Amino acid sequence: MFLKNKFAVRSSRFAVKRLIAAGLVVVVSFWLLSAITAANVEQEPKRNVEAQKLKNPEPANDESIEAGKKLYQRHCASCHGPQGKGDGSLALAGGTPSDLTDDEWDFGSTDGEIFVAIRDGVSTDMLAYKDKMTEKQIWQTVHYLRSIGPKK
Ligand code: HEC
Repeated sequence: MFLKNKFAVRSSRFAVKRLIAAGLVVVVSFWLLSAITAANVEQEPKRNVEAQKLKNPEPANDESIEAGKKLYQRHCASCHGPQGKGDGSLALAGGTPSDLTDDEWDFGSTDGEIFVAIRDGVSTDMLAYKDKMTEKQIWQTVHYLRSIGPKK
């Protein structure tokens, strides 16, 4: 009787240990999986192959950059900041406005991809501008962003 009990206690302890070990394995694999997915999301920009084919039809001269600057100040600076650093005061749904002067482009770095990001919007914070600006104005804004972005 005594022996049997002791055995029962031992085997239940063993079972608990096994349970904890199994639990740990599950937790660690979930953690690894989410870490890998998060890393992928940050590293892989959402490239837009169709938009990459678009060429900026506006000439990249002082005039169009100046027009783009005015449009930027009017429509974008409130969120993306006066110099495009992403430090404007306004952000609708609590999102962080992108720094438009660095070389990180979450939605693609070509003129066409930036154009489509502005035209169609990318999130509940960064809304579409196709009803507020003409395509010409959006292209001019792209030129302006290029002029304040990293020189390649
Ligand atoms: C209400 C705030 C707000 C305004 C106004 C706004 N944006 Fe944004 N914008 C954002 C936010 C927030 C993001 C980041 C979205 C995300 O990562 O999901 C963003 C992202 C972007 C991106 C993508 C950047 C990347 O990394 O690929 C571009 C380009 C952009 N905005 C340009 C503009 C331009 C040009 C204007 C003006 C015509 C403008 N935005 C106006 C909030 C705003």
